[in-house]
Amino acid sequence: MGKFKKERFPIEKLLRAIEAAKEAPSGMNAQPWHFLIVESDKMKGKIREVCEEGEKRFYEKMKGKLGEWLQEKGFTWEKPFLSEAPYLVLVFADVRAPFAVQSTWLAVGYLLLALEEEGLSTVTYTPPTPKEIEELVNAPKHYKLQTILPVGYPNDEKPKYERKSLEDVIVFEKFENNGD
Ligand SMILES: Cc1cc2nc3c(=O)[nH]c(=O)nc-3n(C[C@H](O)[C@H](O)[C@H](O)COP(=O)(O)O)c2cc1C
Repeated sequence: MGKFKKERFPIEKLLRAIEAAKEAPSGMNAQPWHFLIVESDKMKGKIREVCEEGEKRFYEKMKGKLGEWLQEKGFTWEKPFLSEAPYLVLVFADVRAPFAVQSTWLAVGYLLLALEEEGLSTVTYTPPTPKEIEELVNAPKHYKLQTILPVGYPNDEKPKYERKSLEDVIVFEKFENNGD
């Protein structure tokens, strides 16, 4: 799950994908996204350590539906992709901007598609303790970490999980049944 070949790839591929991501629309065109690229084993190792500490705490208290889903899919506190992928892209939202979070996630969506176009793979990893990572990378006070994207060539047979059907996700005119 989220396995990457250690094989490096030209950084131009990643830069082209970020070039696409930064074309996303944003509230008041504030373009509140910032992309921190991490390449060194040292920094990747530190990020992995902080994340896994948080994950351990999270998994200890995890119960209920989410806990079951995670177990069924084979998720654990271990996040080897954080040190195995050649690059990590940390995506921040400058929360002083209007709709900063929504806009930044749009850019993340663009980035995911652009990475696929480049033949690269990623996992939309949402770290359990973003504040600790923000401190670790010396992020400006208003930059809030949204996701860490490990990027590399895929080495993973995991098929895409099944998606809902079109009929399950669209309605016309109004909802027939609002659940009340
Ligand atoms: C907002 C968001 C948060 C996510 N957080 C995580 C995460 O923390 N760890 C992880 O392994 N995957 C995470 N994912 C990936 C989803 O689990 C994955 O996209 C979904 O299960 C469908 O899998 P597939 O796209 O590989 O078919 C996240 C995805 C989104 C959009």
